[in-house]
Amino acid sequence: MKHIAPSILSSDLSNIYKQVKEIEKTGCKYLHIDVMDGHFVPNITIGPTYVKSLRKYSDMVFDVHLMIENPEKYIDSFSNAGADIITVHQESSAHLHRLIQQIKDNGKMAGVSLNPATPLDSLKNIIDEIDLLLIMTVNPGFGGQKFIETMENKILEASEIIDKSKKNIFLEIDGGINKDNIKRLNNFAVDIYVSGSAVFKNNKIESNYKYLMESING
Ligand code: DX5
Ligand code: ZN
Repeated sequence: MKHIAPSILSSDLSNIYKQVKEIEKTGCKYLHIDVMDGHFVPNITIGPTYVKSLRKYSDMVFDVHLMIENPEKYIDSFSNAGADIITVHQESSAHLHRLIQQIKDNGKMAGVSLNPATPLDSLKNIIDEIDLLLIMTVNPGFGGQKFIETMENKILEASEIIDKSKKNIFLEIDGGINKDNIKRLNNFAVDIYVSGSAVFKNNKIESNYKYLMESING
């Protein structure tokens, strides 16, 4: 089964309890949590304390996307706060292999993300170590941006690399996924489609989510 992971970046954070409960009601499995530090990306969002509060009232799989510098300083805190998947950016560290081990030592699923300009080749030597590969289809930092069409080749290439590895690696894509392109993107062997603005649009969480889910699962 393919999944939609709503990104709370586009939610009403002052009303998060109600919105998360509304997402849960749909049967949604993954909640995408975007962490930004104002350095790695030009925006600031939330930290481990916020994740810990969310954990108290949700059993969804917390898919924590770290868009931060020096991620090694925060992996333990996000693990303790209740993250299930922790994804770091290839571009954020010269010691990616060590970061992946740190995430696994915390008993969490380890993800690696690539910015649009970063080639898949850069993961050649660590692909067997990861649990999830996240291909950014916008430049990270903000919700509501336009899907970069040229990333479709990269998604295809990523799915082939995963296939060849014979490992159980999730393929996730993030950025600009909406009602207009979801059906086309369903042609790719993607496991998790992150969607922020398209899920929360007009506050119609349930119907938006259902439309997107039906588009990828027929
Ligand atoms: C972008 C974030 C995304 C973002 C997606 O930096 O990583 O998760 O919230 O939002 P939409 O779906 O609106 O592009
Ligand atoms: Zn994200």
